[in-house]
Amino acid sequence: MPKDPDIAAHPHGPGHVAIIMDGNGRWAQARGRPRLFGHHAGARRVREVVEACPRLGIKYLTIFAFSTENWKRTQVEVAGLMSLFRRYIAKEMQAIAANNVRVRFIGDRVRLDKKLIALMDQLEQETGGNTGTQLTIALNYGGRDEVARATKRLAQDVADGRLRPEDVDEETLPKYLDTHVLPDPDLVIRTSGEARISNFLLWQSAYAEYEFIDTLWPDFTADELSRLCQSYGARDRRFGSVKA
Ligand code: FPP
Repeated sequence: MPKDPDIAAHPHGPGHVAIIMDGNGRWAQARGRPRLFGHHAGARRVREVVEACPRLGIKYLTIFAFSTENWKRTQVEVAGLMSLFRRYIAKEMQAIAANNVRVRFIGDRVRLDKKLIALMDQLEQETGGNTGTQLTIALNYGGRDEVARATKRLAQDVADGRLRPEDVDEETLPKYLDTHVLPDPDLVIRTSGEARISNFLLWQSAYAEYEFIDTLWPDFTADELSRLCQSYGARDRRFGSVKA
């Protein structure tokens, strides 16, 4: 439960928040524990954040669980993370889904193991009719990879005569992205003090507001999310225009 049960939606808060959950490794290291200990602590943080969304007026939450670059980590860490995802989806996620949360996955599934893919499919199906928070989990996701895969499908449609090259514009390409049913993120948060976006939602975040905060992901709370939503509400988003 969040410390402040009275957290309420901020009138001009973000409808779609995307989070780069960074700092699990350092959190564990600071405690003299293996990196996977930090990932488990990080996974436990997800529920509180998801559950806070309705109170904060956040309809869409997108979280970066595993990037296309994360395969470069040690075999032990990658295997541990994959096993964590399987366990998490099978157990914790059922509880999240019972809260009317709809879960979607984005990213390339080809490198994921069949058991994990089956669990992902099952959760997407089971929660497909839920109308509450729309939770998207990016798993084996990379923004450049997503644009490349989208372009491949788009090119195939051109080759097959379903799309004319002259009709390709800024509205066309996003229809081929993994996120085609989602609005663009309003606010992108990265924890752990790193100020980079690491290939996350590259196309979609063109006009997002960013918050880079020092908190390590396992220490992130609903109260902190509330504070970030509040400061988002005070920002002046002009989308390249000028004030009227
Ligand atoms: C970055 O911390 C975190 C990850 C690569 C994994 C994120 C995964 C979770 C929070 C687990 C659960 C998520 C779901 C949806 C089950 P890092 O290892 O890069 O930390 P460091 O920068 O301190 O080394």
